[in-house]
Amino acid sequence: MRQLNVGVIGTGWCGGIRAVACANSALVGELHIAETNPERLSEMRALINPNSATAQWEDIVANPLVEAVMISATPETLHYPMAKACLEAGQHVLLEKPIAISLAEADELIAIAEANNLKFTIGYSQRFNNKQSLIKRSVADGSVGDPVSVLVSRHISRSLGAKIGNRIKLSPAAMEATHDIDFALWCLEPRQPVRVYSQVAFGVREEALGLPDTQMIMITMDDGVVVTVGAGMNLPPGYKNAANTWIEFIGTNGSVFVDDSHKDIMVQSMDRGVEFPLSTMPGEYVGAMYAGPMERETTHFIEAVLFDRPVMVEPRAARLVMEVYMAADLSAELNQVVELPLSEDQIGLALAASVKS
Ligand SMILES: NC(=O)c1ccc[n+]([C@@H]2O[C@H](COP(=O)([O-])OP(=O)(O)OC[C@H]3O[C@@H](n4cnc5c(N)ncnc54)[C@H](O)[C@@H]3O)[C@@H](O)[C@H]2O)c1
Repeated sequence: MRQLNVGVIGTGWCGGIRAVACANSALVGELHIAETNPERLSEMRALINPNSATAQWEDIVANPLVEAVMISATPETLHYPMAKACLEAGQHVLLEKPIAISLAEADELIAIAEANNLKFTIGYSQRFNNKQSLIKRSVADGSVGDPVSVLVSRHISRSLGAKIGNRIKLSPAAMEATHDIDFALWCLEPRQPVRVYSQVAFGVREEALGLPDTQMIMITMDDGVVVTVGAGMNLPPGYKNAANTWIEFIGTNGSVFVDDSHKDIMVQSMDRGVEFPLSTMPGEYVGAMYAGPMERETTHFIEAVLFDRPVMVEPRAARLVMEVYMAADLSAELNQVVELPLSEDQIGLALAASVKS
């Protein structure tokens, strides 16, 4: 059986999961990793025994044996230059969200991938969440009938919000709601978003990070379906590194309500108090099991490359999600409804609204 030689750039939280998934996969031949944090590089070397481990991500790009690269480095400003270099070197790419910082960068990456006939996908992992996949199936098989409205309310812990906010000043729309916008647009294909209204609310993150705690976004689709996404980043430590999510998908024939609040397992201990485990968005290994979406997402990408199958998340879908969250940031900045697609002038204004210094 043919195996794929894979590189992973940035082996922190997500890249670490992806690298272990690759090391565990019979579909992967050589595995090469790049990581700038020396302690983490040593830890990963001991954990997965890769064929090479380097602090220079360019070594992965220059390695002619590496056919596909997973890019999981932060800050997010690294996504575009790293993906560009890999794609230009003829390597297939799985890139963590966001696809880029600007729409122009996203367009350039998509053009290079298409010109070189390469698989290029973005890590919208929640498409591999079993509960959310069930909603997609319930729409596709007609159970819900014609969609009427979608509501996704997601809150993550303030420790995770601080980790994100300390590395890049992107909004909750860009860094969190992005998953849920992608999910809603995926379920509602081929409908297109035509209008966005958003408001942000400040709380505990304002003084420390200069960023909002919460962003509420309302998106209208071209047939009138209304999507509401709420993204909060200030939960206390009970939900350590975790997400608490509630979804309502309403149609003319039925509805699906999903409780992804992870209250079904509660662990108590004298030293750590009450915990709700298995509640991170990427998921985690539990012994030999993987609980969550990221391992399957990683394997899906490997299979897409090896067997020339379509990727789950087309980069043009990620580009559309980006346009929607930039419109949301512009709406919140102007306190106005923003129509889609964005004009050239609005793209400039939205970029300024999205990326805070
Ligand atoms: N799909 C999901 O559910 C999900 C969840 C969390 C984060 N993410 C996305 O994944 C990405 C990674 O997030 P994370 O939480 O794993 O971040 P992280 O900070 O834990 O890991 C990033 C790693 O990149 C390394 N790095 C930085 N610069 C590098 C360079 N030049 N070369 C090689 N390595 C470098 C860092 O040392 C770090 O170990 C982010 O862009 C984030 O948006 C996705």
